[in-house]
Amino acid sequence: MSLEKAVDILRYADRQKKCVVGFDAFNMETIKWIIDTAEEEQIPVILMIYPGDKKIMPLSTFAAVTRDLAAKVKTPVGLMLDHGPDFATTMEAVRGGFSSMMIDTSHLDFEENVRQTAEVVKTCHALGIDVEGELGHVGVASNEADYKNADNFTRVDKAVEFIERTGVDILAISIGTAHGSYVSAPKLDLERLEQINAATDIPLVLHGGTGVPEDQLKAAFARGINKLNYATGYKLKLYAVAKEIMERGEIRPRMSDLVMAMEQPMHEFLRGIMRLAWPE
Ligand code: 13P
Repeated sequence: MSLEKAVDILRYADRQKKCVVGFDAFNMETIKWIIDTAEEEQIPVILMIYPGDKKIMPLSTFAAVTRDLAAKVKTPVGLMLDHGPDFATTMEAVRGGFSSMMIDTSHLDFEENVRQTAEVVKTCHALGIDVEGELGHVGVASNEADYKNADNFTRVDKAVEFIERTGVDILAISIGTAHGSYVSAPKLDLERLEQINAATDIPLVLHGGTGVPEDQLKAAFARGINKLNYATGYKLKLYAVAKEIMERGEIRPRMSDLVMAMEQPMHEFLRGIMRLAWPE
């Protein structure tokens, strides 16, 4: 199938009362293992890349590989730049062939976040590209205050205003998660999520998926989260699996043999996360 817009995949997920995982990948194998697992399971998926990882794989190459692999499978696949930091970077991704976009200027004050997000939305919509924005900053998990301090969380009234004024199709919200490895267990503000979900009618995204306890994730999916962003746990697992295989010493010392040996354990890992968000 050709690539689908993330917003269409997420609206479908919402109707099914399920959640789609947006995985951050960075090279051919990490893209392919996600798409192959999604196809095996017949679960929709969204491929994303951090702008910083374009040093590993240029954005246009990431888009071309994802588009080609998506065309070979039946399950819906989305392609989004994750955390586009500014207009110029999002336009680089648009030129490179991305079909969905995230602009994240949530660290700026509300008015500036509205202004910069609206600018990206206007251009992307003219090109048929859907946009995720972020309101209420999702910070880093190494800094406890980023996910414990409710001052950083999304306000319900502001979420409504933000959607109206920017025209975003998808909204990332802050309800107690952060990116990376948590220094203490996160506790999601589920009541706030329910209120935001009731006041808005576009798909909601939970960033910082790595390390959030499963029961809290399930509770968030049941309360309107349609996209779970997941990155650190994938990168950690890739490293751990490669290390374990090399230490076992059963393969020939060739990169190609290592890649092949990693495939099954990585499928199993990815399947677990996809099934949690998209149960049968
Ligand atoms: P984690 O790295 O904590 O899984 O967060 C990923 C994310 O939110 C990407 O946008």
